[in-house]
Order: sequence, then structure tokens, then C-alpha cells
Amino acid sequence: MVFFFSGTGNSRFAAGRLSEALGEDLRFIPETHPEHTVFSGRHLGFVFPVYSWGVPPLVLDFIASLPEAFFEDAKRCAAKVWMVCTCGDETALSPEMLARALESRGVRLEGAWSVIMPNNYVILPGFNTDPKDVEERKLREAPARIDSIAAEIARGEMKTDVTVGSLARLKSRLIYPLFRRFGIFPSKWRWNDACLRCERCSLVCPTRNVRIAGGHPVWGKRCVSCLACYHNCPVHSVEYGNATHFKGQYVCPLK
Ligand SMILES: Cc1cc2nc3c(=O)[nH]c(=O)nc-3n(C[C@H](O)[C@H](O)[C@H](O)COP(=O)(O)O)c2cc1C
Repeated sequence: MVFFFSGTGNSRFAAGRLSEALGEDLRFIPETHPEHTVFSGRHLGFVFPVYSWGVPPLVLDFIASLPEAFFEDAKRCAAKVWMVCTCGDETALSPEMLARALESRGVRLEGAWSVIMPNNYVILPGFNTDPKDVEERKLREAPARIDSIAAEIARGEMKTDVTVGSLARLKSRLIYPLFRRFGIFPSKWRWNDACLRCERCSLVCPTRNVRIAGGHPVWGKRCVSCLACYHNCPVHSVEYGNATHFKGQYVCPLK
């Protein structure tokens, strides 16, 4: 089984390609009821974007809420346990973070890989989508990287092959907890006059946090900062306070 989370499609693309190559069931975490999930297959894989040099809290919460029997079955089937994260640049200690979450459920993370893909983080000053040439290069290189990871997983070559980057401890142990606490203020989301009332922001929200009232979006409190609403707006009408003025938009074009 391959479980994945994705806001703008990079991890969805990676998870789809991996699950197909390995012949494993694919499950989108926000649409999966952990309490009704029964393990099947020969792999227990997690695919997700790196968030603030760590694992998206939604993924950690999902692991925490899977039933005991799920992990017992995975162990009985001697499932290979692995993760593949997509990131704009670097993972810092994301594998360690996921390993701890799995360890607390009695299973050992055996393999961890990262795939560099276009950056979608735009809500802090100084952060923006990649320049077009960088975006295009990352999109050109990602499929082959995913295929080579799939081949290693299929051969049972479990290892850690991630782009850790500099100051990893500081980023994962100091900044990531701050992101968990202060990373998103849902009340800052708003729409501007360009809004077409197309409701796309609501349709793409993985946590169904964006409802439509009077034709326009209203954000609830379940925002997981995936930025799907922002990046998918066809007219750049979704804004996060003043932080996203003149910032780029990105949605993974790979299928
Ligand atoms: C809230 C947030 C935090 C992010 N933090 C990091 C990071 O620490 N390191 C990094 O390389 N990329 C970071 N990114 C970029 C994403 O990890 C990257 O673009 C990823 O491939 C997006 O995956 P998705 O399209 O499946 O949502 C961040 C993106 C978001 C939305």
C-alpha cells in the first residue's frame, strides 16, 4: 500500500508512478479513514511533500490514528516500509521524523528517498516559486529519479538517499516546531476582486476547508498549508494576507 499527501500534485505524481511500478494500492491520506484501513500488499510506503524541513502534520496524525491491527498485519506480511518525499530543495531530518512516528507504532522505516521537484512555498517573505528554467529542469529530471527509486524499492534495496541540506538539526528541530505552531493562520486567506466565482479553490482543497458563500471562498480552520487553493486559482485571486502579492503559482503538469 502506498499512502500519499499532496497539495499541488508533485507528490501525487511521484506516488502514482511508484505505486504503479510496484503494483501497490494507492491511497490519498485525506480521503482515507484510518480506522477502516486494512493492510494489504507487500509494501508500506508513504509519499509526501516536505513541509518546513519536516513531515506534514497531517501525515504524522494519520500514522498515529491507524489501528494497531494495521501495523500487526504489515509486520506479519513482512512489508517493506519506506518513504519518498518531494521537496523544492532539501529534506533536513524529515526521514528521522517519519521514522520516529512509525517506531512509536512498532514498525521500522527501512528506506527513505527524496525527489527534488518544483517549489510551491510562497507564504513567507523571500520564498517564491522557482524561475521557469529551474522549474522545467526539475520537471525533466523527476520522472527518471522516481523510476530509479521504484527500481531500488522493487529490488529490496532499502537505504537512505535524501538531499539533507545544511543546518538540518536547526531546521527540523527548531524551525519545524514553530511551523507547526505558527505556520498558518487560516484567517489570512482571502480572495480579491479578480475572483471568477469558479469555486476551483474549494474543489481542490484536500481537507475540504474552503466552502463557498455568496459565490466566493471562505476558509475554515482545517487549513494544512498545502497551498492548493492559492496555486490552482486561474486568476491569482487567492491571497495570503499581503504575503503572496506578485508571487508565482505552480501546479504539477506531469501526469
Ligand atoms: C508549507 C510548506 C513548507 C515547505 N517546506 C519546504 C522545505 O522545508 N524544504 C523544501 O525543500 N521544500 C519545501 N516546500 C516545498 C514542497 O515541499 C515542494 O514543492 C513539494 O514538492 C510540493 O509537493 P506537492 O506538489 O505534492 O504538494 C514546502 C512547501 C509548503 C507548502
